[in-house]
Amino acid sequence: MTDALPNLAILGTGNMTGAILDGLLAGDALAQLPVRVTTKSQASADRFAQEPRVEAAAIETNPNASREAVTGAQIVLLGVKPYMIADLLDEVGDAIEPGAVVISVAAGITTEAMEARLRRDVRVVRAMPNTPSAIGLGAAGIAGGLAADAEAMGYARAIFAAVGTVVELEESRIPALAAISGSGPAHVYFLIEQMTEAAQRIGMSADEAHELVVQTFRGAVGLVAANPDKTPAELRRAVTSPKGTTEQSIAQLEAADLAGTFEASMRANIRRNDELAAGSA
Ligand SMILES: NC(=O)c1ccc[n+]([C@@H]2O[C@H](COP(=O)([O-])OP(=O)(O)OC[C@H]3O[C@@H](n4cnc5c(N)ncnc54)[C@H](OP(=O)(O)O)[C@@H]3O)[C@@H](O)[C@H]2O)c1
Repeated sequence: MTDALPNLAILGTGNMTGAILDGLLAGDALAQLPVRVTTKSQASADRFAQEPRVEAAAIETNPNASREAVTGAQIVLLGVKPYMIADLLDEVGDAIEPGAVVISVAAGITTEAMEARLRRDVRVVRAMPNTPSAIGLGAAGIAGGLAADAEAMGYARAIFAAVGTVVELEESRIPALAAISGSGPAHVYFLIEQMTEAAQRIGMSADEAHELVVQTFRGAVGLVAANPDKTPAELRRAVTSPKGTTEQSIAQLEAADLAGTFEASMRANIRRNDELAAGSA
C-alpha cells in the first residue's frame, strides 16, 4: 500500500530521477499534477515537451526555475550530482514550503548535511536507488533525517515503490546498502563479462557466449523469483547431481572463495563512500 503523493517537484531530472519520474507517471501514485521538474539545459527540459503531466524548466533559460518549482511543492526530490546539493539547497531553501519533504538520491550526502542548510520544519529523507529503476526493477533504501515522520517516509516509500522494491533502514547502513544494491548492478555486469569471456575461451563465439550467459542469468534469477519457498542453495543443489559435472565446476568456484571476495569488494566500496562523505575528491 503506497501513500498518494501531493505536489511534487524534481530538481535535476537526469538518469536516476528521470527513471523514477517515468515510473511514477506509469503508475497511479501521483495525486497532484503536473509534476514540476528542472534541468540544467533547455535540451533536457525539451524531452518533456510532449508530456502534459510534466512542467519542465531549464536553469539555462530561467535561472529562477528551481525556486519556482519548489514553490507550492509538498515533496521536493533532488536529482542533481552530489557536489551540487549544498549550493542547490542554499539557492532554494527559503522558497521550500513549510513542512515540505525533501528527498535526495545523492550518494554520500547525509541528512545531517542537508538539514544544516534547511529550516527545521523541513522533513529530509535520504535515498539510495539503483539504475534498474529504469525498467521497474530497482532496489532502493530510504533513511529518514531528524524531522522525517511516518508521512514523510510513506511519501519516500511511494516514490521508490513506483520503480521497484524499497527497504527502510537507519542511515548508518545506507553505505552498506549502496555497496550491495546501488553499485550492485555493476558487480552483476562484471560477472556476466567474466562468464562470457570464459565461454569464448572454451569454444563459443562472442555472440553465442553473450546470448547463452545473459539468458542463463535471466533464467536463474527468474527461477529464484518464481520459487520463494526455495533458497538459492536448494535450487543450486537441484542442478548438482553427485559425481556430476556441476559438482566439479562448483568446487572450483568454492575454492575461489567468492563470498570472501564479495565481502572485500563491498568493504572497499564502503571505504570509498566514507572518504567521499568526508570531502575527499
Ligand atoms: N546513476 C546511478 O546509478 C545513481 C544511483 C544512485 C544515486 N544516484 C544519484 O543520482 C544523482 C543524479 O545522478 P544521475 O546519474 O541521474 O546524473 P545525471 O543524469 O547527470 O542527472 C543530473 C540532472 O541534474 C540536472 N542539473 C544539473 N545542474 C542543475 C541545476 N543547477 N539545477 C537543476 N538541475 C540541474 C541535469 O540537467 P542536464 O540534463 O541539462 O545536464 C540532469 O537533469 C546523483 O546525486 C547520484 O549520486 C545515481
